[in-house]
Amino acid sequence: MKESVFVKKTVAFSKKIHINVVKKLLVFDELGSTNMTAKELAQGNAEDGTIVIAKMQNQGRGRFDRDWQSPKGGMYLSLVLRPIIPVEKTPLLSFVAALAVTTTIHSYGLSATIKWPNDVRVNGKKIAGILLESEVNRNIISFVIVGIGINLNIKVEHLSADIQSQSTSMEKELGHKVDYHEFLKTLLTQFDHYYNLLVDEQYEQIRDEWKNHADTLGKHVRVRTSTETLQGTAYDIDQAGFLLLQTDTGEKKRILSGDCLYCDEL
Ligand code: BTN
Repeated sequence: MKESVFVKKTVAFSKKIHINVVKKLLVFDELGSTNMTAKELAQGNAEDGTIVIAKMQNQGRGRFDRDWQSPKGGMYLSLVLRPIIPVEKTPLLSFVAALAVTTTIHSYGLSATIKWPNDVRVNGKKIAGILLESEVNRNIISFVIVGIGINLNIKVEHLSADIQSQSTSMEKELGHKVDYHEFLKTLLTQFDHYYNLLVDEQYEQIRDEWKNHADTLGKHVRVRTSTETLQGTAYDIDQAGFLLLQTDTGEKKRILSGDCLYCDEL
């Protein structure tokens, strides 16, 4: 089949960039889900640093099995990583990804913030999401898939009505489109920077930077985990990336993952 302009341009781009974490870039016009393809490749021994990128997805997946709407104009990629880090530090990879996305958006003059654990928002509206999937064998990480979806050159009106009011895009915030490959280069460069910190065991630095870019701490929140819904004040993040919550009933909870809502936005 003839290569599309998108595939051609992105393959050419991958040959020009020299970013440590990028070992191989596999480019598709359309996939079900880049995370799904990346996972299959990882299970078939794809090398560390394999990146799957698609112009659009027809079965994009979000956290908690939700759909991730993935029309043309967005950025959809998944990294296959085999980091040699302690298993309990795996959640920090979602901080690495959130920091990479946030700082990339900042470079366009927009003020993006992170909502725990890793939603990236501009003006209180979601602009990017991150989906981490990992496989661990005998307490050793076999692979982690870091899926990143960004509403880049998307008209919010093209997303389904139920999420329009909580979503935004780079195009909407800036009032013009952004160059796809320029954005991708900055994103991968930033990812490489934060990923190196993780591999170099600079956990405190990642946590501090995450705290500087997040707007969750100090907020009254409602967190839905897979087993319960808790309400209270988010007072800190621990060294492994767990949210520390002081519930309204006075209990202290340590939460690995969940859906976080800010009570002042309910
Ligand atoms: C979320 O906020 O719920 C996470 C959304 C993650 C979406 C990205 S798009 C690229 C990768 N492939 C997927 O199917 N999902 C992730």
